[in-house]
Parts: sequence; structure tokens; C-alpha cells
Amino acid sequence: MKYGYFNDQEKEYIITAPDTPLPWINYLGSENFFSLISNTGGGYSFYKDAKLLRLTRYRYNNVPLDSNGHYYYINDNGTIWNPGWQPSQTPLDFYECRHGLGYTCYSGKKNGLKAQVTAFVPLHDPCEIHKVTLKNEGLGSKEFTLFSYVEFCLWNAMDDMTNFQRNLSTGEVEVEGSVIYHKTEYRERRNHFAYYSVNADIDGFDTDRNTFVGTYGSNKEPDMVQKNRSGNSLASGWSPIGSHRLSIHLDPGEEKVLVFLLGYAENPGEHKWSAPNVINKEPATLVMKKYRTAAQVDQALSDLKKNWENLLSTYSVSMADEKTARMVNIWNQYQCMVTFNLSRSASYYESGTGRGMGFRDSCQDLLGFVHMVPERARERILDIASTQFEDGSAYHQYQPLTKKGNMDIGSGFNDDPLWLIAGVSAYLRETGDWGILEEPVPFDNDVSKSQPLMEHLRRSFGFTKLNLGPHGLPLIGRADWNDCLNLNCFSTEPGESFQTSGPSEGPVAESVMIAGMYVKYGKEYAQICRMTGHADEALEAEASVQEVYDAVLRAGWDGKWFLRAYDAFGGKVGSKDCEEGKIFIEPQGFCVMGGIGLAEGLAEQALDSVKEQLDTPYGILILQPAYSVYHKHLGEITSYPPGYKENGGIFCHNNPWITIAETMIGRGNRAFEVYRRTCPAYTEEISEIHKTEPYVYSQMIAGTDAKNFGEAKNSWLTGTAAWTFVSISQHILGIRPGFHGLIVDPCLPDSIKEFSAVRKFRGAEYHIHVKNRSGDQNDAPGLFVDGRPIEGNEIPYTEGKKEYHVMLQLG
Ligand code: BGC
Repeated sequence: MKYGYFNDQEKEYIITAPDTPLPWINYLGSENFFSLISNTGGGYSFYKDAKLLRLTRYRYNNVPLDSNGHYYYINDNGTIWNPGWQPSQTPLDFYECRHGLGYTCYSGKKNGLKAQVTAFVPLHDPCEIHKVTLKNEGLGSKEFTLFSYVEFCLWNAMDDMTNFQRNLSTGEVEVEGSVIYHKTEYRERRNHFAYYSVNADIDGFDTDRNTFVGTYGSNKEPDMVQKNRSGNSLASGWSPIGSHRLSIHLDPGEEKVLVFLLGYAENPGEHKWSAPNVINKEPATLVMKKYRTAAQVDQALSDLKKNWENLLSTYSVSMADEKTARMVNIWNQYQCMVTFNLSRSASYYESGTGRGMGFRDSCQDLLGFVHMVPERARERILDIASTQFEDGSAYHQYQPLTKKGNMDIGSGFNDDPLWLIAGVSAYLRETGDWGILEEPVPFDNDVSKSQPLMEHLRRSFGFTKLNLGPHGLPLIGRADWNDCLNLNCFSTEPGESFQTSGPSEGPVAESVMIAGMYVKYGKEYAQICRMTGHADEALEAEASVQEVYDAVLRAGWDGKWFLRAYDAFGGKVGSKDCEEGKIFIEPQGFCVMGGIGLAEGLAEQALDSVKEQLDTPYGILILQPAYSVYHKHLGEITSYPPGYKENGGIFCHNNPWITIAETMIGRGNRAFEVYRRTCPAYTEEISEIHKTEPYVYSQMIAGTDAKNFGEAKNSWLTGTAAWTFVSISQHILGIRPGFHGLIVDPCLPDSIKEFSAVRKFRGAEYHIHVKNRSGDQNDAPGLFVDGRPIEGNEIPYTEGKKEYHVMLQLG
């Protein structure tokens, strides 16, 4: 069952029922100011950091679900309704929500009045614009009242939810004309404030929640909206809100457009503690002037759309399979950009108060967006590398505002260092910007300990090299990619946190998955060494990689698939000898991607085992059989009920590893089958089962052992976005950057007979046409560039050449 449909022309998903199985959200903002917005107007806004600079409140555990946001109420002769349905839930005569790239437009109609809200964050200003269009589509004239509503957060979202003894007394606001200023904590050390304005005269306002909502009221039917008036309240402590009231008259057919603006402003360096508590409104005033008229707002929205056109034009395909094309051209790339911006910090499943930017997460996100914004990828690489320690290990997370490593979480995830090589290697291949390796980058954010980025890569590689266990396989530390496989937490007491106590570095537990990563990224590291004139180091690296390769064949092969790990007692994890958790997906994907077992014929066998043991119609399970009871020596993974998350869920993130691995052994049909199963455009038809947004990937789909098999969770912020984009664009369609030029090396299913692509790469445009095995003897197989055949599949890059016409006929 569907709750909407795609409009590829407009690059939108159009939701036609407000009560979707879960809130279906979108993200506004591309630089510093971000908002989450659901299809019913729920959500919140923040500046740079969802934890430290939160503008508006959201209640994750709220009942009803998703009932706080940036709302408009209409009181039309006693009928109270919201254009997005929530929070009043008054039935609408018409409802529609169009989620587009960086904007959302929802509208509702009731008793002949249509209200449409177009929300977006303009390209370069820290504010969220709402263009509200009200149209009388009825026969008689209309008199009604419009109320706006936001609930301010007192900046630090965590503190806001806990420190009530203080926070209920700190709230401060100021109202001037139609602008509500939220200045809580301005008097202290924070020289920033928020403002909420409308470009028209108002008939009243409220800034005190209790006055507006009613002390025992709810935002479903706020007191003032019911009374059809405002309290003109000035919040003093308690909970500051922003609400404007406008009385509106519309003749039949008449339309009125209002521009509401929720902004963030700073008065850098101006704040003096001794000075009166007066904000400098100048920065806010400038922004409000820029977006005062509907025409200015329309222009800003059209600039935003153009920006997206431009970003997406770096890689676009045209093909008969419209679902794949829409994911490649629009939604998958869009999600990659959102994950790049937010890492795993703020979604409807990540509260914005916990995790900041993940070291491994951000490095992987980079794989999916580096082609769109290489200059921001560069900046991100340098930020991430600055949180690395001198021994090559790294803080697992860092806070976006401070860019400092998160000490509460610390380090010890032994896969982290290798992801830096993955990210930098992708950046180098995309841009050819070898200069980045010379950039001085601090260790542990200490500039006195700066070393060129190349040295950081060396330490990354060296960390794994120096941390091998009894079988010659890399030590796992606190965990590898699978955060919940905590093989060294055997000494923690039940109830203690898995990740913050116990020995973080076990001397024994080893990871076959990290071995696969080491072989894959170690080879790339060796190539980087060679390309930068370090031939001896390249040889040394290759020798070390070979040792780990051999160790995997010796101790990491279980007969029909790759083992997952050795636990802290030397016991096997992910083996036929185990009672549960006999086979895991990760090492099958990563070892084959690293090329392990290709020559020995093991790769095919491992992937066949995946198909036999882990396949489901909704995607590939992370492991089987799921663990039925908790095992202290395996850690958090066994704390989940069977079928969920890391304990036997379909962890979408690593499905594309199998897709890529399948392309490495040339099985295009199977690669595409794996791709299709988790692909949102393909699962749109089963939205009632899947439940999350049908235009983006979710982290996890409940596995066969779960009660709700097929139900997805944790949409949006997941490495699935980047990896799936890599799997389809670089491996199935086969267009990927190499160190020397663009590679065209598809591995297609029979169903894709041909496709064309435009790829912008290092300043040139590649027009590529690929024909699958046609059986037509007249089609000479091979790769032709500008009409001439070339050897191999990497098109040598020629400085200054602007256009390449590439034709590939698969034989
Ligand atoms: C984390 C990833 C991790 C994955 C598997 C996600 O929630 O963001 O870093 O690799 O879970 O445990």
C-alpha cells in the first residue's frame, strides 16, 4: 500500500494522507541552520549543533506521536484546524505534503479555505522561511484568524530536558512590532538569540506557553486559539514560545501570502557582561529585509532548487528502469548529502543530544557525497583526522560545534583508523588533489602535534599492523563496524554500559571483518604511497597486507564462509560450530571486496552461503541464527531480541557490500537483486509493512526472527545511503573514479539492456553510453573514447580536456 507517489520531474515525493504509518520527514538546510520537518509540520530547528544550539523544542517520547513543531492554527468561525493536520488532527477536506530537495510544502483545505505552507532554509542565511499562502476557494467571503506557533528550546537541548530548577526561571523574550526575540541566556555568556517574525502587522502575540496553551491545555487546542484572541504575554521564565495572531479577511478567490521567518543571530564579540541586556538586532534585521516579500522568497527557493540541480548533475543516468533512475538521480544522492551534513546526530531516531559526528560514520558518508562537494569533503577530512590520536587510533565521535573528540565515548573501536584511509582515498580519486596529503593536521586537536595528513594515514595503517592477535588477524578492541559486537566486555558486570567500561583493548579478540578492511584499504594505501613517491613503503604495506590475507585464509575461513571473529577466549564467532550466530554478513562482504578468496574460489562460495543462509525478500540478514539469549562475552549484540538491529535484523548498511562483492565475481543479476530488495523506490508499494519513508533508506529492517518482519526503523541517517550509492553508481553501473582517471566497468543485470550517464569529473564532462550484452554480432565489444578503442577500463585523464564521449559495449 502506498501513501503517496514520486514526481520525478519536480524531484518530490507527494504524500496524500497525513496519517502515514510513521512521521515521514524531510531536512531543511545545507550549511549551518537545519530543521527537521515532518509531513504534518512537526519537527525542530537548530544551528550547527542539535545538542548545543537548539532553537525549538521537540519531544521524542510524545503522545500523540510527533505533536510538536512549527505550526499554524486557523480558527474559522470556531472550527480550529491546521494546514498540516497536526496537532489538532481536525479532518481536512484536502491534504497534501510535497517533500522536495531541501524544502517541504504542505497544504490543507477546510470549508473552502486553502492554506499552504512552503518551508525551506535559504542557501546562505541562518533562518527557516515559511511562505504561508491562504486562499479563499469558496463562494462567500471569509473572516478567520491565523495563529503561528513555535516553542523555544533554551539552547542546550539536553539541559533543557533536565535542569528544570534553573530553566524554569531563565526564559526571556522581547517583542517589537511583528518580531518576537528569544533571548534566554543572552545575559550570560552566549551572545546569540533567535527571532520569529512575520512580514505583516499583527493583531496580537503570545510568548508564554501557559498563557497560549493553557496551564492544563495542550497544543491540540490551545486556549488562545479557542478563545480567538491573544494574551499578548511576555514570557518571564517558564516556557517561552512564539505566536503571532493575524485576523484575515478574504473575498471569494482572493489569496494572501505571508512570510514567517525563524532565525538565529549572533552578536560576535560584542557581548559585555556588565552591559545592559540589550541584543544587537542588526544581523536579524538584515536577514528579515532580505526575505520580506513573496518575490524575494520565491527567488530564494528557486536558487535553492538550482543549487540542487547543479549538485545532482555531477552524476546522472537515464535508463528504462525508472525506479533505479530516480534513486540514483535524486533520492539516494539527496540522502547522502543529508547524512554528510548531520552524520548520526539528529533524526526522528537520533535525539540530537547523544551522538555528534562519528569518525567511521563520517568517513563512510564521504564515499557518497565527495563527488558533489569535494571542497566540503576536504574540510571534513581534515576535521576528522584532527580527532585521531598519535598511535593512529581515534575518538569515535566528535561534537560538530567544537570539532573536538567526545571524551565520554573515547576511542578503542579498532576499525576507525582504516575508515580514514577509505575516505581520503575516495577524495583523492575524485579530485586528484594530492596536495591534501601535505596539509598539517593536529593529533587529538592539539596543533602543536600537527603532522601532514599523509602521516595520519600512515598511523592509521600502522595501527592495525601493530595490533594483530594470536591468529595474525586484527584485534577488535571495543568493537569494529558492528558497534555491538563487544568481545572484550566479558569483565563488565550486568547492567554496566557495554562501551564505557571493561577493558577496551582485549589482547585476544580478533575481527575478520577488520582483516577484510585492512586488505582492501591497505592496498589503496599502498597505491597512495606509490603515487606519492614512497615505493618502499608501498612494498612494505603490500607485504603486511599479504600476511593478513594469508591469516584470513588460514584462520578466518570456516569451510563455506568467512568467520566473523575470535572472542576473548579464542572461541569462534560466526562459525558452523557455533550454536547461534553461525554466519555473519560483514566478513563475507568485506573480505570479498578486499579481493580475499577470489583467486581461491572462496569468494563465490561465501556469497552463495549468504544467499542460502541470510537471504529474505526484504534484504539480507546480518546474521543467522539470531541469538536467543544474552551472552556476556559477545556484548550488546545479544542484548537485542532476535530479529532486531545487530541481532539478526536486515542491517541495510551492509547489504550493498554484498552487492559490490557480487559484482566482483561478475554476478550482475544477483548484485541487482540485492540492490533492489532494500531500495526504497521498490519497497514503496509495501509502505504499510515497511512504515518508514519510501524515498530514503532506513538503517534497519526487522528480520525473519522478529515479530514485525519487514518493518523498517531508523530512517535517514545511516551509512546505507553512501554505500548503496557506491554500489549502484560505481559497481553495478560501474562508473567510478580511479587514481588515474574515470573507470567505466559495469556489471549489469540482464534487465538493464542499456543506459546513458553524464558524469562530471575533475572539471570534465563524460557522456557515457553502455550497452549490455546484446547478442548482436555487429556490436564490437569494448570501451571506446571519442570513437577510439582503449585498453582496460580506466579512461586516462587528460589535463584541460573538457568533454569525453564514451561508448561501452559489454561482450
Ligand atoms: C552506527 C555505525 C555502526 C552500525 C553498526 C550504527 O548505528 O552509526 O557506526 O557501524 O550502527 O553497529
